[in-house]
Amino acid sequence: MTIRNQFDIEALRKIGHIVAETLELMKEAIEEGIMTRDLDAIAEASFRRYGAVSAPKKVYGFPGHTCISVNEAVAHGIPGKRKIRAGDLINLDVSAELDGYFADTGFTVAFANGDKRIEKLCACSQRALREGIAEAKPGAKLNLVGRAIEREAERNGFATLRNLTGHGTGGALHEYPDHIYNYYEPRQKGAFAEGMVVAIETFVSTGADSAEEDGDGWTLTTLDGSLVAQYEHSLIVTGDGPIILTQVMR
Ligand code: CO
Ligand code: CO
Repeated sequence: MTIRNQFDIEALRKIGHIVAETLELMKEAIEEGIMTRDLDAIAEASFRRYGAVSAPKKVYGFPGHTCISVNEAVAHGIPGKRKIRAGDLINLDVSAELDGYFADTGFTVAFANGDKRIEKLCACSQRALREGIAEAKPGAKLNLVGRAIEREAERNGFATLRNLTGHGTGGALHEYPDHIYNYYEPRQKGAFAEGMVVAIETFVSTGADSAEEDGDGWTLTTLDGSLVAQYEHSLIVTGDGPIILTQVMR
């Protein structure tokens, strides 16, 4: 959406705070042996406390309140009986709706993982997100975000997934612009505009450049076992710099 007034900004800040706070609670709860469905239950309770609802459940009928993807599963993982173990790379993707406003955030946790390459992957993807967000200015081409993300990934010897992207958000979970790529797409038309609400997300990978649905109808997996670190913020594009809606304020 494109914001129309101060009311829109306040409503977006509110749902942004809810998803950020919920993500924080889930991160804090990660421990050896916890089931992914227990993490999802924390999100459900948190949404309910605020009167918000899970966006993927409401919009797509997703069988969970949040997407929790472990190791080679990189996105849209269904919460279930899988137990978290030391060394797991866990992606939490949290999006919700309140009063018709949506926000979307994501974070990847390397749990009790001493692997330097995985630490480097996560740090690189977080830097890539900052650099991508810095390109989101009124009038700037949408494809500059992907160029920045891809450049940061390649500089560190990593790849990016081409079939998972950022997107417009705010008035719906996914809306125009439909794709904010993780790589430089010279043919992409379109530019950021003042007040545009977008979710920018990075999918930095140890090798694979795509993820495929693996048979349960939802979970996207790298077929070669590549690991992926995803980070995501929803933000409002403004000439004074982005208003990041999904940052935790504590
Ligand atoms: Co998301
Ligand atoms: Co998203």
